[in-house]
Amino acid sequence: MAIRSGFSSKFGFVAAAAGSAVGLGNIWKFPFEVGENGGAAFVLLYLGFCFLLCFPVMVTEIAIGRKTQLNPVGAYKALGYKNWSILGLLGIVSGVLILSFYNVVAGWAFGYFIEMVSGNFGIGAQFGVFIQDVFKVGAYGFVFMAATAFIVSKGVSGGIERAAKILMPTLIIIIIALVLYSFTLPNAMKGVEFYLFPDFSKLSFPVVYSALGQAFFSLSLGMGALITYGSYVGKDDNIISSAVLITIADVGIAFIAGLMMFPLVFSQGLETDGGPGLIFVTLPGVFETLGPTLGIVIGSLFFLLLSFAALTSTVSLLEVPVAYMVDEHEVRRNHAVWLVAGFIFLIGIPSLLSNGYSEFFTSFITYFGTEEATNFMTLVEHLANDSFLPLGGCLIAFFAAYVWKKHNLVDEVSKGNPNFSNSLIGKYIDFAISYLCPFILGALFILTVLDRFFGINPIA
Ligand code: PFF
Repeated sequence: MAIRSGFSSKFGFVAAAAGSAVGLGNIWKFPFEVGENGGAAFVLLYLGFCFLLCFPVMVTEIAIGRKTQLNPVGAYKALGYKNWSILGLLGIVSGVLILSFYNVVAGWAFGYFIEMVSGNFGIGAQFGVFIQDVFKVGAYGFVFMAATAFIVSKGVSGGIERAAKILMPTLIIIIIALVLYSFTLPNAMKGVEFYLFPDFSKLSFPVVYSALGQAFFSLSLGMGALITYGSYVGKDDNIISSAVLITIADVGIAFIAGLMMFPLVFSQGLETDGGPGLIFVTLPGVFETLGPTLGIVIGSLFFLLLSFAALTSTVSLLEVPVAYMVDEHEVRRNHAVWLVAGFIFLIGIPSLLSNGYSEFFTSFITYFGTEEATNFMTLVEHLANDSFLPLGGCLIAFFAAYVWKKHNLVDEVSKGNPNFSNSLIGKYIDFAISYLCPFILGALFILTVLDRFFGINPIA
């Protein structure tokens, strides 16, 4: 087994896990999902899923990780359930798929940093052209993956943990400043209304499963990332308070990113359902209105810090398959890192090409019951995020409640938190892990797959 480098302090673990959670999912994906899925009703569902279904899964993942000190595949074996290690493998496959397209978007964010430095505010209107310049954005993605691999090859603690403590708060301050600025613009309140006042007539089943997938994705759950990171938590640390902090930080940042975005969208007269281009189309014009100097400073800083937020997430995504290779196949860490990173970069190439450059990957598949084609990148996202992650969460909960058994979970969480089982949170987690998470998530997974890929909706 590999020697774990360990985090320097409890705060180090929370910072790193929050670093994993906070990323493109909060600032790029959350706003565009809200926009595509009808606004405030989606936000409410997302919040409900995060706190009611995801939080108990997060506690379980961290507990399994700390108990076993292993990667997701090794963890199930170490607990004595070799067959369940297939669930770890599902997580590793999900992580590999997610990183393959995540890295492409991280490349866009990094590319925008360079554009902002050179004062190219017109890039917003040129987004569609920018993402089709595949050699350029591919090179940015390559640099991004190399940076991720470099950090993972040096072990999880140290540099990024320290940097995260300074850079994340800076990003939050910029977003809050943009929220305040956006409120002063014409039509801003229409955006706030769209974002905060639910119109339940907009609710539909796709809104439900997009919100669920987003909750899992944003919290880095369902694929064992937090099993891997949980293996770095000290025995006396309080898992519950760490999980509360991570969840609040993640949800809070997504929430303020949305609060920034919709006043801007409405003030510019743009459509809310701008899809993956939403922040990239909307923000450069806003930076331009700040004047040339301030615009360049704030615009560059925003995309630089967004890239950094993405980096702390890509690091955790790469760490999962690497820990697996190191622990289970005794590959040297350095070799595992570059091998896996290279492989994931390659399988990300179809996603890179699927935004207009290659017709084949752009109109890759037409699901049953739909007319519009889905591109390769969105297909990967639908599979990994919206299907595998909730399935992973369902099975992790089922495993903890009925296979490993709840008293073992409670024992582990009680270390560093002796009152856990008598606390309100303890009672809720007991209930959620036994009933809510396995069964509701299982049902939602089945309904999602039927509806999305086969156009069958048994409850409509
Ligand atoms: N939570 C990250 C984000 O919101 O950007 C994405 C992510 C990272 C998902 C790590 C899953 C994961 F294991």
